[in-house]
Amino acid sequence: MLALVRSQPVPAHVAIIMDGNGRWATRKGLPRVAGHREGVKAARAIVRAADAVGLRYLTLYAFSTENWSRPEDEVTTLMRLLEESIYRELPELMERNVRLRVIGRRHGVPLPVRRGIDHVVHETRANSGLTLLMAFNYGGRDELLDAFRALARRVRAGELAPDDISETDVSGALYTDGVPDPDLLIRTSGEMRVSNFLLWQIAYTELWITPTYWPDFGPVDLYRAVAEFQRRTRRFGGV
Ligand code: FPP
Repeated sequence: MLALVRSQPVPAHVAIIMDGNGRWATRKGLPRVAGHREGVKAARAIVRAADAVGLRYLTLYAFSTENWSRPEDEVTTLMRLLEESIYRELPELMERNVRLRVIGRRHGVPLPVRRGIDHVVHETRANSGLTLLMAFNYGGRDELLDAFRALARRVRAGELAPDDISETDVSGALYTDGVPDPDLLIRTSGEMRVSNFLLWQIAYTELWITPTYWPDFGPVDLYRAVAEFQRRTRRFGGV
């Protein structure tokens, strides 16, 4: 295993596309939802590991706007899993000083889930350790549309001139307002795509893709990704 480099900073913000729950289950002859259950356990272990490694922000892609097109029973199970886990994890989030933020559209999220999210976001709002951003009912293009609409309203109100719109204005109109762009994007299960995730924010993000299915992704894999990140040279378009 690669060791973390003490002289190099760890990334401040790691974002993860947690993919492969379904295939993990199918490979074991189990229903897909068994994969999602294991996926929740993997997510819990990764939040602990992210905290231990000293990340400031961890963003997990838990449910995309495209995921609504899955079979109804799978969507229902995912919603129930999310609702259960969010309440169950609250004591540990408090103990670890983790703040939860949720990014995505509220509209369309079933009321009990929304209530759970609101409760945990509220309870953890003053925590000053790791910020856990959960992307839920999230789509990158929707996020950009919402930002453009918000900026257009500011222009119409005379607060902002079109030619003065800056990158800072766009960043500030995104769901991730105030959060630094991810330094590292991890994707499990080997797909080589971005899947409508944080489109604006990942402009200069380092990518790390592993064939491991999400339920098998553990702290050691996170450490390996972080250690590899530390050995890369980021040029941000320079030389
Ligand atoms: C990908 O597997 C995962 C999802 C659709 C998101 C659900 C994620 C979890 C339940 C784990 C984390 C949960 C929380 C609450 C943070 P897939 O179904 O796309 O797998 P496949 O590509 O093999 O079908």
